[in-house]
Amino acid sequence: MLFVAAEGLPFVKTGGLADVIGSLPKALTHEGFNVSVIMPLYLKTAKKERESFTKLTTLTINVGIYQHVKTVIYTTNVKGITYYFVEHAGYFEREGYYGYPDDGERFAFFNHAVMHLLESKMIDIDVVHCHDWHTGLVPLLAKTLYAHRIKPMLSLFTIHNLAFQGNFPYGMLESCIGLSSHYYFDGSLRFKDGISFMKAGILYADLVTTVSDTYAKEILTPEFGEHMEDILRLRQKDLYGIVNGIDVEDWDPATDPHLAANYTFKNVAKGKLANKLAIQRELGLRQDPNVMLVAMVSRLTDQKGIWLLLQSLGTIMGWDLQLIILGTGDSHVEGQLKPIEFRYPHRAVFYCGYNEALAHRVYAGSDVFLMPSLFEPCGISQQIAMRYGTLPLARETGGLKDTVEPYNQHTLKGTGFTFGPFSVEDFKHVLWLAYDTYTFRPDHFKAMIKHAMKKDLSWDKSAKLYIKLIRKRIPSK
Ligand code: ADP
Ligand code: GLC
Repeated sequence: MLFVAAEGLPFVKTGGLADVIGSLPKALTHEGFNVSVIMPLYLKTAKKERESFTKLTTLTINVGIYQHVKTVIYTTNVKGITYYFVEHAGYFEREGYYGYPDDGERFAFFNHAVMHLLESKMIDIDVVHCHDWHTGLVPLLAKTLYAHRIKPMLSLFTIHNLAFQGNFPYGMLESCIGLSSHYYFDGSLRFKDGISFMKAGILYADLVTTVSDTYAKEILTPEFGEHMEDILRLRQKDLYGIVNGIDVEDWDPATDPHLAANYTFKNVAKGKLANKLAIQRELGLRQDPNVMLVAMVSRLTDQKGIWLLLQSLGTIMGWDLQLIILGTGDSHVEGQLKPIEFRYPHRAVFYCGYNEALAHRVYAGSDVFLMPSLFEPCGISQQIAMRYGTLPLARETGGLKDTVEPYNQHTLKGTGFTFGPFSVEDFKHVLWLAYDTYTFRPDHFKAMIKHAMKKDLSWDKSAKLYIKLIRKRIPSK
């Protein structure tokens, strides 16, 4: 089985996709599957690790504008998983990963390189698992241009975020994909007067999945469908929602090397206190064991509901709480967050940037984790928070709805605080509920921490669901 993705741990991460690519293959391997992963060789990986990789082969791509373009495929093995890297200095050895004007050309090239590798028979696979728009051409190419050149295989396409679609001008169909304009005019790839890599993946993969059950239903509606709901409906019988797990080894407060103190649910009070005091000191907040520490670790985009927080700041900072925001993203959001340290000295801090080690410490040291997303296909962060005994405050959408069990004052059940309507009032109300519970019903708060930490967040169940889907199509697997 080959995973095709634009990012993945332990090499490259910008968000939850990388967490999934870094952990689902491990879980499938435990179930007896042979899994490898292919991704572009970006600058950071090239600089740091290329020397230690093995050159597998050199391929010559000869499609459309890519005439006689050579690409070296590197390989390495980490903990039983084989990784392949597609080298093209011009396309991939840049400071960033995506968001460039030539992304269509770059990722079409990546998809062709994957197909050429399959054609070369250097690797032998019967299932290809593609992730998000960057890899949407693989199922299409497997059934068209390369159909007679590669071994037949089952293709899965997983939508991690329908909001990013890889939509490009229609001319790219011939120039970069190597297919005739027929695919535009008959509607197959046409989307908003251009072509869409996401649409290609959805229509041509044998199976389409997304990362939670609720999101699988939501994307069939105009509210969440990003104008692709009708296209998705065409595939409804092959569309499944399988919730993401997390890597419970990498994210384990009992062994996490980044923390000031390790802990399990048995000594969580002591463990979290040590981490709270440490993160307060590290980020210049007033060291106070009693104050409720609220955190957010996130891409700063409209998806993440940061607007609700910005609109509520005046009210909530009137309560005795502290706030940490670790994130990077839209410059208008970053601009609005920068002044919070001056407005609320030693009580609020905005760390603008991406910092993996710091993220671990923030998860461990905080009491409440904010995830008031407008939409959330699955969400990894709220799951990490629960694993660290930090109660998520989440909106009931997508995977947040499927993974966070709401607080119930009567049964003492629940692993977090949730709200429905995307409104400032509802957000403030639920944050007040969290604050009130933390302050006046600490026994309830502690009970929830234990529920959260005991929740099974591993990939075990979901990996089995993927396998079940595959075996329905290939019983011998
Ligand atoms: P998304 O993929 O939509 O960004 P997820 O919740 O699925 O959201 O995954 C986000 C992942 O990225 C989590 O592992 C989170 O800890 C991490 N992350 C997000 N922003 C940062 C940051 N600024 N620094 C470190 N880690 C971050
Ligand atoms: C996307 C989604 C997020 C999901 C992640 C991994 O980035 O925004 O909700 O958890 O992919 O599937």
